Amino acid sequence: MLFAPTVCGKNRDANDHNDFVLEESVVRLKMIGLTLALFSALGAVMAADLPTQVHIALAGLDSNGDSNSMTVSWNTKGATTTSTVKFGTSSGVYNNAATGAAAAYYETFNHHVTLGTLAPNTQYFYIVGDDASGWSKEYTFKSAPTYNQLRGNFSFFVFGDMGEKRADDSERYIKANKESVDLIWHAGDVGYADDSFLHLGCMTEFCYEKAFDDYLNDAEEWASLRPYMVMPGNHEADCHDPACLLSRERREKLSNFTAFNGRFKMPSKESGGIMNMFYSFNYGNVHFISFDSETDYPNAPLATRYVLPCGGFGDQLKWLEQDLIKANENSAERPWVLVAAHRPMYHSTNINKELQAAVEELFYKYGVDIYITGHVHSYERNYPTYQGVPEKTYQNPRAPSHLLIGGAGNDEMKDVPNNDVSAPGPWTVVTDGNYGIGKITIEDDNNLSFDYIQTTTGKVFDTFHLYRDHSAYGKKLLV
Ligand SMILES: [Fe+2]
Repeated sequence: MLFAPTVCGKNRDANDHNDFVLEESVVRLKMIGLTLALFSALGAVMAADLPTQVHIALAGLDSNGDSNSMTVSWNTKGATTTSTVKFGTSSGVYNNAATGAAAAYYETFNHHVTLGTLAPNTQYFYIVGDDASGWSKEYTFKSAPTYNQLRGNFSFFVFGDMGEKRADDSERYIKANKESVDLIWHAGDVGYADDSFLHLGCMTEFCYEKAFDDYLNDAEEWASLRPYMVMPGNHEADCHDPACLLSRERREKLSNFTAFNGRFKMPSKESGGIMNMFYSFNYGNVHFISFDSETDYPNAPLATRYVLPCGGFGDQLKWLEQDLIKANENSAERPWVLVAAHRPMYHSTNINKELQAAVEELFYKYGVDIYITGHVHSYERNYPTYQGVPEKTYQNPRAPSHLLIGGAGNDEMKDVPNNDVSAPGPWTVVTDGNYGIGKITIEDDNNLSFDYIQTTTGKVFDTFHLYRDHSAYGKKLLV
């Protein structure tokens, strides 16, 4: 008796030979099929253009002025059939779908989808993409509460001037503490794409778009979880590196804040603002105003500075006053009025005269509580100040407090500490030159606290408590 090899632990004889050959053929065919299927799947993966850089922003406005939607944004390398978000209130169960639009201002495509009316203060789970190009992993966010659901006890991060380079400490801190805040408000200079030509190998190679991609991919962990509200800084203005100066196409396509306006979608439509340049939004008992300190007011700094003219977005000061009037009318619902813009009004011993002439009277007249900025790459806390005169108290001051938080980390920061720290001015309380970000905690309708956190150590370096008697708004308007 001939013995065939032992297969599956069983001896087989010659009579089994034909069966064995047949089985072997079937196995081979199956393996070929499996291999083909694997190649096909691999091809599909290679062909997929999966979404990257997912980030969200508050959107929508109900009849009470509460943000009742969310815009989800992402990037793909190529065009896709649709821009779709599938979402629902249980992980893995997406009962809702919303579609939006995508556009390419240069080469890659930026998608923006606003989800429609959401239930307030509700956890949602979402995926983005489409069937043809592929779907992202699952993300989650919590929709905004209504003003009467949230009268205090919530926080948000505020900072300016964060890029891809030298921002490791702040990125790490924000990632580790993302759950402790409800939103993130970035006062201009978002990613520093225009400094990318100084990166290794980028002097002549075009790295502007890659720098923006890298920044937003790094931010995705927190920017897909919490509304990431941004405003323009000078580094959003255009691309002025050698690779752009040598290319008319790049110069023109990337002029006048185009990349910044293409990659984000702030709630300007809801608030009567213009693109991502100036807009306002509500969250809890706070009215937030994002102002453009770069263009669109008399003698604004960037009108003529860059390769091609900047600005021309609209009558920002008229919009600002109308928005502040409305905020005062709604002060019972949202007593806090906070403004952020990129450039400080008071810094060291200096006053930004053009900015002061444009907005200081409006801020004072309509009771803005705090003006938050960046641009200078350090921290400076200034007393409530009006017309250059500080009120040295945080107990119901008449003037807005001023906070400069420009040291989150970016290409241009020199070695810390003491980066960009200048001599104190008459309004200066404290300064710091380490990497750092701010955290505002709304305690109730009249009290808030502020922490400045050095992100290298995670330690709170400076803190203050502000009390404002907002019931006096109406009276203040008559002063
Ligand atoms: Fe700046």
